[in-house]
Amino acid sequence: MIEYENLAKANDKFFKEYGRNFQDTLQRGWFILGSKVEGFEHSFAEYCGTKFCIGVASGLDALMLSLHACQFQPGDEILVPSNTYIATILSILQCRLTPVLVEPDIRTYNIDPSKLEAHITPRTRAIMLVHLYGKPCDMDPIVTIAQKNKLCIIEDCAQAHGAMYKGVKVGGFGDYGAFSFYPTKNLGCLGDGGAILVQTTEKAGILKKLRNYGSEKKYYNDIIGFNSRLDEIQAGLLSVKLKHLDEINNHKRKLAQLYEEGLKSDFIKPVTHKDYFDVYHIYNVRHERRDELREYLLRNEIKTEIHYPVPPHKQRAMQGLIKGGPFPISEEIHRTTLSLPVSFFHTEQDIEQVIEIANKF
Ligand SMILES: Cc1ncc(COP(=O)(O)O)c(C=O)c1O
Repeated sequence: MIEYENLAKANDKFFKEYGRNFQDTLQRGWFILGSKVEGFEHSFAEYCGTKFCIGVASGLDALMLSLHACQFQPGDEILVPSNTYIATILSILQCRLTPVLVEPDIRTYNIDPSKLEAHITPRTRAIMLVHLYGKPCDMDPIVTIAQKNKLCIIEDCAQAHGAMYKGVKVGGFGDYGAFSFYPTKNLGCLGDGGAILVQTTEKAGILKKLRNYGSEKKYYNDIIGFNSRLDEIQAGLLSVKLKHLDEINNHKRKLAQLYEEGLKSDFIKPVTHKDYFDVYHIYNVRHERRDELREYLLRNEIKTEIHYPVPPHKQRAMQGLIKGGPFPISEEIHRTTLSLPVSFFHTEQDIEQVIEIANKF
């Protein structure tokens, strides 16, 4: 059986180093907001080429705290892709803002910059874009539109650690770069975790307060805050893994290249372009008979996933809460997409086997 994911196998190479780091944290006896978090924040900001990184409790919180820091008014509108993971849209709703869904480009699955301006109203405040599946968005036109219309940019980088647009890492193009370290991510920890990248001391200061009860100095509360902190154990493990992130990304890129070269043309493969350094958090193909293909692969001992089976606007929880529509492109993607195995533990032989079997479908 070729598994879709196996987190024990994907982390196996790091277990010894994790163990040493964990022991070190235990011996220090300091578990919240200490030197391990500071160390990781420093290294991750440096890796991404930004000034500041603020560790938080999850990717959803990274998005929510970014929106809180913006101090928008209830009902203000946020442009967001119609085909993202639900967390992106939840962050907007949790902040009492209105998500305005914008269709993606069918070739890249990322928000279509040419459709943004038609959705801008006097209430529009921000573009919350998603570098979906690990592929960077087309940042040049997005930044131009945001500047022209005085909109804030929040990048949802939950699936794109180390991805680059025109040689520049994602997370620093916008005002806020939000990351998730959920265990399956390319840079995943062994629990929940997240981070926000920003470029100014002011933003970093507000986010540090927001994640810690609105407080900078213990027992003195300046603003209404939250408890959303990356913990010392996870931060230590993330520092270990960060040293291997390029190796992880390059391995996944190598596997993606095998798919790109080996899969027959019946499958619609992810677009590749010199401007996109895609880190393939997910390697998806599209096929008219997606469900049959999935069953066929499973019968042949290959596990796959669907990211995602139900588009956000069709989720029960979202009824009446989002603006925009209809969303034929998003629906088409959700109907036809299938994610193939592309984990760090998969070998080139595994992928050759998937290709050989898939090509007989
Ligand atoms: C695009 C996207 N945004 C946000 C999130 C939320 O991250 P977390 O699960 O850490 O809250 C995820 C996680 O799966 C995601 O894929």
